[in-house]
Amino acid sequence: MYQRSILVASLFAASTLAQAPGPLTPEVHPALTSYKCTKTGGCTAVNSSVVLDANYRWLHNKEGYTNCVTTGFDPDFCPDIETCAKTCTLEGVDYAGYGIHASGDALTLNIYKTDPATNVTSLSSPRVYLLADEETYDHFQLLNQEFSFDVDVSKVPCGINGALYFSEMNASGDKNELNTAGAKYGTGYCDAQCPTQNFIKGQANLNQTYGSCCNEMDIWEANRAANAYTPHPCNATQVLACSGTECGNGDDKYKGVCDKDGCDINPYRIGNKGYYGTGANFTVDTTKKFTVVTQFYTTDNTANGTLKEIRRLYVQDGKVIQNAKIQIPGIEGDSITDAYCASEKKVLGGTDAFTQLGGLQQMGEALGRGMVLALSIWDDAGGHMAWLDQDPYPADADSSQPGVGRGPCPTTAGDPAVLIKQFPDAKVVFSNIKSGDIGSTYSNATVVPRWMRH
Ligand SMILES: *[C@@H]1O[C@H](CO)[C@@H](O)[C@H](O)[C@H]1NC(C)=O
Ligand SMILES: *[C@@H]1O[C@H](CO)[C@@H](O)[C@H](O)[C@H]1NC(C)=O
Ligand SMILES: *[C@@H]1O[C@H](CO)[C@@H](O)[C@H](O)[C@H]1NC(C)=O
Ligand SMILES: *[C@@H]1O[C@H](CO)[C@@H](O)[C@H](O)[C@H]1NC(C)=O
Ligand SMILES: *[C@@H]1O[C@H](CO)[C@@H](O)[C@H](O)[C@H]1NC(C)=O
Ligand SMILES: *[C@@H]1O[C@H](CO)[C@@H](O)[C@H](O)[C@H]1NC(C)=O
Ligand SMILES: *[C@@H]1O[C@H](CO)[C@@H](O)[C@H](O)[C@H]1NC(C)=O
Ligand SMILES: *[C@@H]1O[C@H](CO)[C@@H](O)[C@H](O)[C@H]1NC(C)=O
Repeated sequence: MYQRSILVASLFAASTLAQAPGPLTPEVHPALTSYKCTKTGGCTAVNSSVVLDANYRWLHNKEGYTNCVTTGFDPDFCPDIETCAKTCTLEGVDYAGYGIHASGDALTLNIYKTDPATNVTSLSSPRVYLLADEETYDHFQLLNQEFSFDVDVSKVPCGINGALYFSEMNASGDKNELNTAGAKYGTGYCDAQCPTQNFIKGQANLNQTYGSCCNEMDIWEANRAANAYTPHPCNATQVLACSGTECGNGDDKYKGVCDKDGCDINPYRIGNKGYYGTGANFTVDTTKKFTVVTQFYTTDNTANGTLKEIRRLYVQDGKVIQNAKIQIPGIEGDSITDAYCASEKKVLGGTDAFTQLGGLQQMGEALGRGMVLALSIWDDAGGHMAWLDQDPYPADADSSQPGVGRGPCPTTAGDPAVLIKQFPDAKVVFSNIKSGDIGSTYSNATVVPRWMRH
């Protein structure tokens, strides 16, 4: 995910965060139906909902209306961690105002929002998590399981990323005596880029000393031109508040606790330029909705086994589409395995942090403990999303070399200032979110069986 966390940190550092629920705006979670499936019982609808991340919210003093965080924590309200927790309060939000709309089992995330008072469009870039109930994130345990969803990326251009992924966040949002807001207010974020957060494990990060690290499984980072799926293992159990070298920032990139690059499969990058794109002449046509299936196979085909393979399938117009075959000599397989990852790094270059940090076994342990589903849409001021969709990447590399092209977008694409003018209605729609036994969440029949209709 590269630049995402840097973006979020800089965008929202000046806004707010919080730790106690506030009195001014009620928090009303948009309802989003999801499905749990078994091989024998089919799929059952679940009344889940989504919650906006805490970083987007107004954090103010309980006695008044003053921000607790502007460029840094206000020392009057937050001289120390305990006083900060007692003094500051976190507000509910207007979801539609953030460009977030849920209906039935479909969630639409708009990257931009328009202020009705002025008609001025600005970046919203929402990030939400799936809640199992009002106070608890759905904690997905995906070993020997399958996860699927439908996606419409037809309005997601080059340079924008509509993302669906798992982070090993605490199911309660690290609710504790300091953080009484918890998952209901979207607290407890972490990912493999170890982003600086205003609060980590409920404690105010007063001097921005710490980063919030955890295992991350990127199921889907995509627009209509390119996509990737990427495990990012961390040598960490649940949320780790990193400092110094272990955060892996800058020159320490390969010395940290998390694999920042991850081990990716991007069809374009592995030599399948006609596999995924806008038009009926691509194998997966991104002008229309399709289903993305991800399967987590273990060594003994039980949830107690060790993760050995992450497979990808697509379903479009009732047809099952196998994952793109790797076209680069020396790289093994057509799915993510330890052998694929090691050979990808060897052939395409780069430090193999994935293997060093424990590879699929490490990722699988997090999937076994349970992870939280995050859905977001974002642009990339620092890198223009070139790592996802541009050819060549980096811009001065030789496009004819294997692995250099990440997608068909030109190296001039992806400037946020241009995107907001050109694509003010950019949005992604995720729907039909399902998890369960391998083979239970999708069907290859053109006639959709009764249990999958809704
Ligand atoms: C889900 O919500 C619907 C409508 O409110 C309700 O009828 C149904 O019983 C709920 N299902 C569960 C499992 O709570
Ligand atoms: C905003 O746009 C709408 C629709 O174009 C228009 O009716 C309204 O007057 C505009 N409001 C402002 C404040 O410009
Ligand atoms: C979440 O954190 C709480 C408080 O630290 C802890 O008791 C609980 O076990 C954690 N939940 C999970 C699923 O790890
Ligand atoms: C933050 O920095 C200030 C001044 O450098 C120091 O007095 C304080 O102890 C630090 N607080 C924490 C929680 O590290
Ligand atoms: C599909 O057609 C478009 C427009 O003619 C073209 O740009 C693209 O390269 C084609 N893709 C494939 C896989 O042939
Ligand atoms: C996993 O191991 C535990 C303890 O050995 C056992 O009780 C359980 O049935 C096993 N689960 C599966 C899915 O094999
Ligand atoms: C993980 O961290 C522990 C404790 O810091 C260390 O002993 C171990 O070698 C690390 N493992 C890996 C795979 O880096
Ligand atoms: C569809 O599924 C059936 C039953 O699982 C299987 O026999 C058949 O080969 C599949 N067809 C395709 C095109 O995947």
